[in-house]
Amino acid sequence: MLILVDPYYDALGFEISRDLRVELVPLEHKVFPDGESYFRFLRDVAGEDVLCVLSSYPNQDKAILRAIFFLRTLRDLGAKKIIAVIPYFPYARQDKRFLPGECVSARVVAETIFSAGADYIITVDVHSEKVFENFGKRFLNIKAVKAWANYIKANYRTDDVFIIAPDKGRIDYVEAVASLLDVPFTGFEKRRDLVSGEIKKHQPINPEKFGTLVKSRKVAILLDDIISTGGTAAGVIKELRKIFDGKIVAGFTHGLFLPGSIEKLLKAGADEIVSTNTVRNSFAKVSVASIIVEEIRKIL
Ligand code: R5P
Repeated sequence: MLILVDPYYDALGFEISRDLRVELVPLEHKVFPDGESYFRFLRDVAGEDVLCVLSSYPNQDKAILRAIFFLRTLRDLGAKKIIAVIPYFPYARQDKRFLPGECVSARVVAETIFSAGADYIITVDVHSEKVFENFGKRFLNIKAVKAWANYIKANYRTDDVFIIAPDKGRIDYVEAVASLLDVPFTGFEKRRDLVSGEIKKHQPINPEKFGTLVKSRKVAILLDDIISTGGTAAGVIKELRKIFDGKIVAGFTHGLFLPGSIEKLLKAGADEIVSTNTVRNSFAKVSVASIIVEEIRKIL
């Protein structure tokens, strides 16, 4: 087996290659003056299984084109089994036709990656698994539950902690982390305007449970899959801050951190911000390398 690491994604890619102890495919890469990219594999890949670790943010559209170049070329050059590892799956939030005529971008991206040559796609904490169900076992979503639980255990007294889901869709996930740690959890619900995408309001799903937890625990850890503008998390933290004076930790699997998002979180009352390293950012303290390696070993 060989591993090809997208040059825009070296850190996590190299961590995976080190843990798997597989040889890296050396790559020549340059960008022409007009902005077009050039790639050349400096090793024969014919007959080899190849793990292709792909970056997808920032510049997701360019990243998708890069993925097509890599996968298609691996196929052309006779690679055997090709596994595309895309830790942050781009366009995953556009996972259905919310309004008539919309493009279901999440499905189109997956189809494109498969038709370019991938036999499998492996991703982490994809926004919603439903849209990918038709791909069966070829599309594997790894939940970073264990990575979060290990991080929380190593950094906080679990007797102090409770975990919060920012919306109903994240309750099962948060419950899974909480049960590994044996700590309580609760959640919020939000309402969005389908056209503007604006969140109308955040409120606790179970106000009574929420009221008890804010009195008995000292550390609230909010876990969401993505932070983009920071609006969702800041909205929840603002509500939480009204009645909780303990420590608030804002945790995200995919830290896009658009300009202004960090200020929003801090202004709302967050004390700490943490994310995984699926997207390169300065809060990436939780590595998903080991959970990806564990799943790859199972596939192989
Ligand atoms: C939405 O359903 C997602 O799970 C995230 O909560 C959302 O994408 C975060 O985006 P933003 O930071 O812009 O509110």
